[in-house]
Amino acid sequence: MKRLGILTGGGDAPGLNAVIRAVVKTAYNELGCSVIGIRDGFDGLLEPDGVVELDPDSVRGILPRGGTILGAANRGNPFARKVMRGGKEVIEDVSDQVAERIGDLDIDALIVVGGDGTLNICKELHEKGLPVIGVPKTIDNDIHGTDVTFGFDTAVNTAMEAIDRLHTTAEAHHRVMVLELMGRNAGFIALRAGMAGGADVILIPEIPFRLESVQEKINERAESGRYFSIVAVAEGAYQEGGEQVFSRSGDGMAVARLGGIGRTVSKYVEGICGVESRVIVLGHLQRGGSPTAFDRWLATCFGGEAVRLAVRKGFGRMVALRNEEIVDISLEEALAKPKRVDVNGDAVMTARSMGICVGI
Ligand code: F6P
Repeated sequence: MKRLGILTGGGDAPGLNAVIRAVVKTAYNELGCSVIGIRDGFDGLLEPDGVVELDPDSVRGILPRGGTILGAANRGNPFARKVMRGGKEVIEDVSDQVAERIGDLDIDALIVVGGDGTLNICKELHEKGLPVIGVPKTIDNDIHGTDVTFGFDTAVNTAMEAIDRLHTTAEAHHRVMVLELMGRNAGFIALRAGMAGGADVILIPEIPFRLESVQEKINERAESGRYFSIVAVAEGAYQEGGEQVFSRSGDGMAVARLGGIGRTVSKYVEGICGVESRVIVLGHLQRGGSPTAFDRWLATCFGGEAVRLAVRKGFGRMVALRNEEIVDISLEEALAKPKRVDVNGDAVMTARSMGICVGI
């Protein structure tokens, strides 16, 4: 193993810099091997100045930093890249160019840090014969192959803190505060932060909700003299018999974006329950900031293990956390199905027994 490559794809998540640092330090300390950083996801492999040499000096001080020193891109799929041809936007497969560049750069193994989209690209590159290794990241925690992804814990803490802050103003004004949280089609952030912050209602995509149940909970609280409530709603949650709400459609090349369900819930609460309500969309604040101790630890372990996996030539595999152990599994297995909240699992059961309304 002479030279490793690393790239960070998809949306950023707190802990990406910790992975980069761990990869570089492990490669230098254990193998005396150099590391090349690819800028802006796979895009860097298509740009002449899209790569940068990384050494222990260049990763000094980045452990507590959010974002990624390499940049990220969530539209850079080399199997379906948007390019301009004759003044028109067309989709092209440029994966051969990517493969060629990896060869030209003399990269023995490419470590790809990303969520399901990026890891699926990684899997396809492996099927093409490229020496790739996956590292799972996402605040959504929706990757089946690992018990948890780094970035999730930080996002949950940010969301919990937001709920704490909303509590005082909700109580002061006798309002229902509806906090819309990220997570795409998974309700992990809303469920965990909602429980940790003491939300009264938690709505997640895995349990299509009834507005009447939300109303009942708010009324029940008012009847017992608590004239305020906190509703934590995942951006992917939707009403029973209804559909998810999008803030941006997926027309053409644009990626569809969830958003707006918080407003629907808040408007209903004001209209039907007759209680003043406000909606807060926490949005990208959940992706920013310094990673928690857990995320720094997990990202560091993932980075170190990714290098060892490269030495073992475990191409087409992904590092993962399973039962407190760092392991590796095939990308195929890791991505076989998306991870979702178990609606009959301990957390949902506990939420219900705590009197939290989970939508039905
Ligand atoms: O996958 C991470 C995530 O933050 C989702 O929770 C959210 O739906 C999406 O990315 C937002 O993407 P963008 O940064 O493109 O708006």
